[in-house]
Amino acid sequence: MQLRTLGRTGVKVSALCLGTMTFGNEADFDAAQAIVDRYLEAGGNFVDTADVYQRGAAEEITGRALGARRAQVVLATKGRMPMSDDPLDRGANRRHLTRAVEASLTRLGTDWIDLYQVHWPDPSVPIEDTLAALDDLVNAGKIRYVGLSNYLGWELQRGIDACERHGWAPIVSHQPQYSLISREIELETLPLCAANGIAVLPWSPLGGGVLTGKYTAAAAVPADSRLGASEAQAKRRLSEQNLQVAQAVGAVAEAIGKTSAQVALNWVLHRPGVTSPILGARNVGQLEDNLGAEGWELAAEQVTALDRASRLPLPYPHDMYRLINAM
Ligand SMILES: NC(=O)c1ccc[n+]([C@@H]2O[C@H](COP(=O)([O-])OP(=O)(O)OC[C@H]3O[C@@H](n4cnc5c(N)ncnc54)[C@H](OP(=O)(O)O)[C@@H]3O)[C@@H](O)[C@H]2O)c1
Repeated sequence: MQLRTLGRTGVKVSALCLGTMTFGNEADFDAAQAIVDRYLEAGGNFVDTADVYQRGAAEEITGRALGARRAQVVLATKGRMPMSDDPLDRGANRRHLTRAVEASLTRLGTDWIDLYQVHWPDPSVPIEDTLAALDDLVNAGKIRYVGLSNYLGWELQRGIDACERHGWAPIVSHQPQYSLISREIELETLPLCAANGIAVLPWSPLGGGVLTGKYTAAAAVPADSRLGASEAQAKRRLSEQNLQVAQAVGAVAEAIGKTSAQVALNWVLHRPGVTSPILGARNVGQLEDNLGAEGWELAAEQVTALDRASRLPLPYPHDMYRLINAM
């Protein structure tokens, strides 16, 4: 599998990262083991998990499934989300993150985490406190690199600047949602990350499955699918616009003899500034399909067709910014 550099770390990670959000949920241990085995066999070396996925079970399964191969992968996890009903068991504060890292190390069965990411911003803590705590964890040898996820543009830049000013371990990556049905980060986050040499690791590159072609109408949702399991998600994800984008993906896929999932993933994989999209799969068959997204490129006219179908109207000030700077 093609390798890419994780921001400015110099560390080479595979172009497709393996996500583990299904582990302990749609994928039991055996399915997860098969997914991990196939991913490693295909040359993948980058695995993303989080403490909150099934409240620790996904981390445990990931650690067990990797077993003695742990050192072969760049292992990323996240903390900050509630791990219990205890109000002390959450947040991006020093107290919780320090304990959360210890708990993740135990569940993953490892002495170090390669990339530790703050899962979501926490407006109750100055970002400087969060980053100072993570710097201490780097210096203690518990984590190697620091990443953020789902941060707003201004917060991210503030964090980057704080690390530089204080000489703390820098933010090396950002993990935002990005797909043909969720292109908002093109406005702020992607240019910001490119300008600062930060790796971008898109989550839900298939829009949670919407871009695989399995959903043709909001009223016809397969029961054994993520959206079949959640009416709220189905309502949110299966808008008319999103279904039209899925149709455009299907048309390109048919024309070039690929699957919808491969086309949608290939598009994300080759967007400027993207490092490694994170794959989600409930079984090895889905993973196999998704691995076929790598090693080729969509033609320019196919990219244009997908762009046209999925483009979002520009909100202020981006609309005027473009007009004025084109004068
Ligand atoms: N930082 C964050 O806040 C955040 C949030 C979400 C996820 N993530 C990370 O990103 C990873 C990927 O996210 P995601 O799972 O939402 O990604 P996704 O690729 O958009 O969706 C994956 C889901 O789509 C369906 N699917 C995948 N491949 C398929 C195929 N070839 N054919 C048919 N259906 C297929 C499966 O769901 P069904 O079979 O159930 O339909 C699968 O669970 C996660 O594992 C996690 O590591 C991070």
